[in-house]
Amino acid sequence: MIRTVIVAGALLLGVGAVMAQQDVAVKQDNLMRAQGKSMYGVILKTVKGEIPYDQKAIDAAFKDLEGSVPTIPNVFATNPKEDVVNATYGSSQKIWQNKADFDSKVPAVSKALADVKGTAKDVASLKVAFDTVQAKCTDCHETYRLKLK
Ligand code: HEC
Repeated sequence: MIRTVIVAGALLLGVGAVMAQQDVAVKQDNLMRAQGKSMYGVILKTVKGEIPYDQKAIDAAFKDLEGSVPTIPNVFATNPKEDVVNATYGSSQKIWQNKADFDSKVPAVSKALADVKGTAKDVASLKVAFDTVQAKCTDCHETYRLKLK
């Protein structure tokens, strides 16, 4: 009886740990998806003319990014050691081998956001702003993001 309880307890702990890791991976993925929504769902679609230029929406997208980008180092503090189930992109283990280098990619994105702040007034100026910020997102993705499928 005692043995059964111990085994059940150990199993539960095991399940808890797995869920916690998936939880961490999902949180990290959600942060990136939110940034993707601002950058690609709003800004890039506007640049491509797929949606009409809406200054309010553009300003809100940049504001969201400004708030969200500095949280990357913290949100990626823990290594979940697993990918989000069925995800297209995953985190390279290199992040947690070179966490300081990973974190050092973040201020460059914030600086790019600060540099372009208020410069987007039409599609042409928005494209310049998009390219400036996107280059810094890519600078991290090239090293630390894996394409899973
Ligand atoms: C310091 C590194 C870093 C920076 C800077 C960064 N990302 Fe990411 N991004 C990652 C990693 C790692 C992944 C893969 C893990 C994931 O998707 O959870 C990722 C994944 C993504 C994904 C794919 C999400 C999915 O699974 O569908 C999008 C979209 C994305 N990032 C957008 C952005 C945008 C936009 C910026 C710039 C504003 C940015 N990222 C800046 C590290 C970074």
